[in-house]
Order: sequence, then C-alpha cells, then structure tokens
Amino acid sequence: MDTFDAIKTRRAVKKFDSTYKMTPEQVKSLMELTILSPTSYNQQNWRFVTVTDQSVKEQISKAARDQAQPKDGSLVIVLCGNMNAWKEDPLRYWKDHPVEKQEIVAKALSRKYLDSPQNRRDEAMRSCGFAAQTIMLAAKQMGLDSCPMVGFEYDELAKIIKLPEDHLIVMMVVVGKAAEPANPRGGQLPLSDVVFENSF
Ligand SMILES: Cc1cc2nc3c(=O)[nH]c(=O)nc-3n(C[C@H](O)[C@H](O)[C@H](O)COP(=O)(O)O)c2cc1C
Repeated sequence: MDTFDAIKTRRAVKKFDSTYKMTPEQVKSLMELTILSPTSYNQQNWRFVTVTDQSVKEQISKAARDQAQPKDGSLVIVLCGNMNAWKEDPLRYWKDHPVEKQEIVAKALSRKYLDSPQNRRDEAMRSCGFAAQTIMLAAKQMGLDSCPMVGFEYDELAKIIKLPEDHLIVMMVVVGKAAEPANPRGGQLPLSDVVFENSF
C-alpha cells in the first residue's frame, strides 16, 4: 500500500471482528517495524506490552469503561514510557557507533533528564506518539485496522499489565480486522485554522 493511501485509510475502528486472530509472526513483524520509530537521541524509551490472551483483553475492555475494541481486536498494544531509559546503560543506544559518540550521547541524556521529571515525561509522550502512528500505518499495510485509545482507568490498566513504578502508560492501540467501517470522519479543520506560514 502506498504511504499516502495508508494515511488516508487509517481510521479509528470501533467494531472489530472477534474471530480474526493475528499470527505470532504478524505481531513480531509489526513490533519490528514499530521499534524503527524515531526517539530523541535514539533513547528508545518506549516499552510495549502486547496482549493477545483473551482473558487479559477482556480485563482491559473492562478497564476501558466496557469499550469493546480491546476484547474484540486481535492485539492490544499498551504503549508505556520508561522514565529511567535515559540512564539505563545509555551507551547501548549508539552501540553500533564509536565509543566516543556513545559517551557524548550519555552525557547529553543526563544533562536533559537528570533534574527534570517533566522532560522525562514529555519524551515518553513524544516517543510513544510516533510509535503509535507507526503501528497504525504498518497495520494498514498488513491489511489490518486499529484504534488508538486513552479511555481507560489508568490504575486498573496499570495493575493488569503489572506496570513497573518507574514507567507510565501513554496510550493503547488495538489492532485487528474491522467488522464495520469506522464512523464517518468528524470533519477536519481547514488548513487556514491550523497552519501558519513562518510565524503565528
Ligand atoms: C490519544 C487518543 C485517544 C483516543 N481514545 C479513544 C478511545 O478511548 N476510544 C475510542 O473509541 N476512540 C479513541 N480515539 C479515537 C479518536 O476518537 C479518533 O482518532 C478521532 O475521532 C479521529 O478519527 P480517525 O482516527 O478515524 O481519523 C482516540 C484517539 C487518540 C489519538
């Protein structure tokens, strides 16, 4: 599928075909593509919980205020940020480059995140945002559909996925086969409302 077509046909699907199951190979391919998403300093601070177990998906639907997508979709991906990624063996983020480069990046990470929980949190949001879009566009290319979701009880979902203390949940993306087309688009704002040339 052409990239433009994937962008245009990706929609937030509300009704998934509960009989459709992705294969483990499909899930692996999707995640291999997902980790090619960009992150600042290549710190790869996202962590993904992939859920295919029906009973866990049902618990997630419950935590999502009884929305059906998690239980009916084939795969639920919970996108989380690791708040300590910046300091967890940071040389590995440039392992294929000379050690001098690795050390420069490690110092830069420390400068930016050591004293700033806000920076750590912002970075998790940015990284997971890109990863979510990669998931949804790659799913289209694989002939699948998706729904991004934040309508869930945070503490309940954290308990279900056993979220570590130094991680936070950013969102989830459900992937599967649509049983029904998405609702008609809400209506996009005109470019003139959202794009400003050279300055606001
Ligand atoms: C961060 C985020 C959270 C969302 N949460 C939900 C959700 O909990 N349930 C749902 O049905 N749709 C959810 N959506 C889907 C949006 O309603 C949908 O993306 C928006 O209406 C635009 O429609 P489209 O994605 O089909 O273009 C969410 C979307 C985003 C980006």
